[in-house]
Amino acid sequence: MIAVDAQRLLGRIRELGAVGRDGEGRLTRLAGSDADKQGRDLLVGWLRQAGLDVAIDSIGNIFGIWQSADNADNSPVLIGSHIDTVIDAGIYDGCYGVLAGLEVIETLKASGLSPSRPLAVAAFTNEEGVRFSPDMMGSLVHARGLNLETALAAVGTDGSTLGAELARIGYAGEREPGFLKPHIYVELHIEQGPVLEREGVPIGAVENLQGISWQRITLDGVANHAGTTPMSMRSDAGYAAARVVTSLHDQAAASNSPTVATVGTLRLEPNAINVIPSRAIFTVDLRDPNEQRLRAQEAALSAFLDELAAEGIAVTVERLARFEPVIFDGQVVELIETAARKRGLASRRMTSGAGHDAQMMARITPAAMIFVPSAGGISHNPREHTEDAELVAGANILLDVIVELAGMEARGND
Ligand code: GLV
Ligand code: MN
Ligand code: MN
Repeated sequence: MIAVDAQRLLGRIRELGAVGRDGEGRLTRLAGSDADKQGRDLLVGWLRQAGLDVAIDSIGNIFGIWQSADNADNSPVLIGSHIDTVIDAGIYDGCYGVLAGLEVIETLKASGLSPSRPLAVAAFTNEEGVRFSPDMMGSLVHARGLNLETALAAVGTDGSTLGAELARIGYAGEREPGFLKPHIYVELHIEQGPVLEREGVPIGAVENLQGISWQRITLDGVANHAGTTPMSMRSDAGYAAARVVTSLHDQAAASNSPTVATVGTLRLEPNAINVIPSRAIFTVDLRDPNEQRLRAQEAALSAFLDELAAEGIAVTVERLARFEPVIFDGQVVELIETAARKRGLASRRMTSGAGHDAQMMARITPAAMIFVPSAGGISHNPREHTEDAELVAGANILLDVIVELAGMEARGND
């Protein structure tokens, strides 16, 4: 059977994982940053070395395209993911999918086979959404779910704008977003959860992805002296925020459903030991594979905020991102299962808990995802880990799925 070059793939994952380290060795490549530029430059170099046509669109999405004279059809089979990271990240989230996509195309190019349509690999801008909201922004713009001007005007957590940052790092490309109209989209990713490892299953055939609701909430109370103000006379924004955090957590935990709720950022003003907080600003990340339940969770949060308002706390809510759950293409999911079976690997159907570019691409083309196990279910953490053999196995399943989708026959190279 034809197979990817394991050492080339693993070597690139490690090399990219070394880009964007701070003095203490922490990996952070936020969208549009200098570290992002270095990672992009490395990737573009590899795409060129592989003989792919490199195209960059005006939201900074990078495409490596293998167009062959024999292509009977022009719409590509697209493989994609992202190379931006969260703060203090692991090396696999997103990068594995992009580099495995490149590896698959490079392997097929060297195999002497010609596909009936182009093959392309994409690295989408700002999937993580840590610096600029919403997340999955590059693929969302590609899928025409957000207009380019709005995306470029997004203001970062550091006050920068994405458009200016892309121009500064040299990745405000010329191509119009969405110029590449995929025939089909496949994304390979680490699971970032505990299911595959727990069950000892090496391949996940991802059939759906949960909905995501991101909000930023600002609560305004009154700053006052921590020593002299009786408890009954306080309008404490910090306490109000803590009650929201607890209520969200308890409600999700008690819901007996896959609902998850996270407050990942929280800032108090004036942030002084002896001053009752006048303001609390925090983010809420709510997710559920069921749209009705996700709406119910949002409504419950809103009702709780109304209660705070009735107590005299001023409440401001900004919506940062809202994506409905997605169901992936059944035929591609079956192809993944078949490819696993042919390689003697167990697979299971599963739901993605994390957001992915595939969720956006599913708006415009049949899409599906392949997962490989994450040790301890840990991700968005430097301890993120997948065994080399599992990474290579996943890349070979991607290879087989792409061979099928691109109308190639896997001859020779046995
Ligand atoms: C992306 O990594 C997300 O699911 O937040
Ligand atoms: Mn990811
Ligand atoms: Mn991520």
